[in-house]
Amino acid sequence: MLAISNAKVCASRNSSKLSFFFILLLTLLSSTSDLWAQDYNTLHIPAALYGTNFNLTIIDTFKQILSGNQTITGGINDDFWGPTIFVNKGDTVHMNVLNKLNDSTTIHWHGMHLPAVMDGGPHQIIPPGTLWQPYWKITNNAATYWYHPHLHQMTQAQIIKGVGGFLIVRDTEEAALPLPRTYGIDDIPLVLTSRRYLSNNQFDLTNIYGDYMLTNGTPNAQVSLPAQVVRLRILNAEVERGYDLGFSDNRTFYVIANDGGLLDAPVAVTRLKLLVGERVEILVDLSKNSAGSSVNLQAFNGGQPFGFPGGEPATSGNLGSLLNNTTFTVLHVIVAAPTSGAITSIPKTLVKNTYWTDADVTNSRTITVTDQGPGTPFTFDHVGFVFNTINKTVPLGAIEKWTITNNNTFGHAFHIHDVEFKVVSRSSGSVANYEQGWKDVVYLPKSESVSFIAKFDDYSDAIHPYMYHCHFADHEDGGMMGQFVVEGSAGVKNAPLPEVSYTLFPNPALKKLFIQLEDPRVVVYYITITTINGRTVMMLPQPDLSNGIDISMLPSGSYIVKLMDKESKQITIRKFIKE
Ligand code: C2O
Ligand code: CU
Repeated sequence: MLAISNAKVCASRNSSKLSFFFILLLTLLSSTSDLWAQDYNTLHIPAALYGTNFNLTIIDTFKQILSGNQTITGGINDDFWGPTIFVNKGDTVHMNVLNKLNDSTTIHWHGMHLPAVMDGGPHQIIPPGTLWQPYWKITNNAATYWYHPHLHQMTQAQIIKGVGGFLIVRDTEEAALPLPRTYGIDDIPLVLTSRRYLSNNQFDLTNIYGDYMLTNGTPNAQVSLPAQVVRLRILNAEVERGYDLGFSDNRTFYVIANDGGLLDAPVAVTRLKLLVGERVEILVDLSKNSAGSSVNLQAFNGGQPFGFPGGEPATSGNLGSLLNNTTFTVLHVIVAAPTSGAITSIPKTLVKNTYWTDADVTNSRTITVTDQGPGTPFTFDHVGFVFNTINKTVPLGAIEKWTITNNNTFGHAFHIHDVEFKVVSRSSGSVANYEQGWKDVVYLPKSESVSFIAKFDDYSDAIHPYMYHCHFADHEDGGMMGQFVVEGSAGVKNAPLPEVSYTLFPNPALKKLFIQLEDPRVVVYYITITTINGRTVMMLPQPDLSNGIDISMLPSGSYIVKLMDKESKQITIRKFIKE
């Protein structure tokens, strides 16, 4: 049984005999592990952070999700999931990611176009106790993105624990449109997941399909929304399950944005498939609903064919779940009075997108989903992920068409880092109207090929790769992932520099540590600061050294700076003392 406040029920009873009866009744009901469908909990709205400098502390923690034992969870500045980060297109944002987990992790900025060394993929490992400080200029369109762990073979467990968060980009085009955008009031983030619980209320970290829905970490979630047009930003952050979303009254709703931006115009639908990693922004018109009425956002997963993830018939076991092949509630909506300044109509048009077409393509590739027989992990082109193998090299500035072929009997969700793409064809027929916008994850149904076109511009890096993978965490952890580097145009290369020479000052230092490079041609690629016994405490990809390095949070002691030069990739070390 999920979070139902026994205390509240009992407190309303004065007679102790009656209380006893109630406790007995509750105990009997809990033992059947039935959900009380009418017993809803208020939807948690993640805290919002604004600005250009963000402190994100990843923690091992607990949350009271069920009655009884608390559940061990992971969160970012919170006890499950993390804050919603609002950023503006054109701003340079600085992230201070402090890993306070007992494990290493990474944080990937899903959907962001940024240098590979800032991307937070499997190579940017943040050891426990380490501060990682990536920064980049936001060039993505206004849309709903997210951040999550990406440590190879640990992604599933860390995502199940709850580590992740929304990253919402705003821009001037979006701001000019008559759209709901009051966070938590008429603009609601929804992260859809489900969990299976072990008998002591702990998450089953090996589970693929959860038995109980968690919406923003809230079991049996309900939200009160004003009787007007509201915007829902929905993310599927499951391990594998897809959602065929719709409303209990089968009402029409309007898709306004895909993963990477607004569409040209709202697309009216009554059902919408959302696979793992995908986001969609929808408008729902509640203006005809009387205050106090209710409607449910549901997953119409009943009757889905085998191959749609979560369509499997089994209700238990590894590929089974109580939510499989059934229609279930994702969010109970109670309609309240409209707000002042309410949006009351669906706009006719949104933004003007110019998508890549076949005529723009400079190179084409194909990738085939493979496995080595029943029960073996899925791979691409018969090779599983190998940490030090670069599978593809893309020239900087290329406009590429990738065709992903899935001859498998099961669906997948294909994701690529660095770019947003345009889905141009599906072998099954047509590309749905609701997926005509910029995307970074695409549903790859069984026995289907999907083609997309993307431009790989702005960032090249010979060492740090970007990933492409199935976004099902268990498939990705199992090796259904490859990596590509974007290679810069071969310009005039400087002769390799001799060993990079620099001094640290002041030394000892208290608050800031400055680096004086002897040769001004040296470009610093990476700085790592470790304790004298080798524990990494700070990771600074391509740091801007003009203002020094803020070391005020380090305990006093001796430290080692490891500086990697961009051209030669040589590492030179220096020692300093923190006062
Ligand atoms: Cu959302 Cu490679 O990940
Ligand atoms: Cu997959």
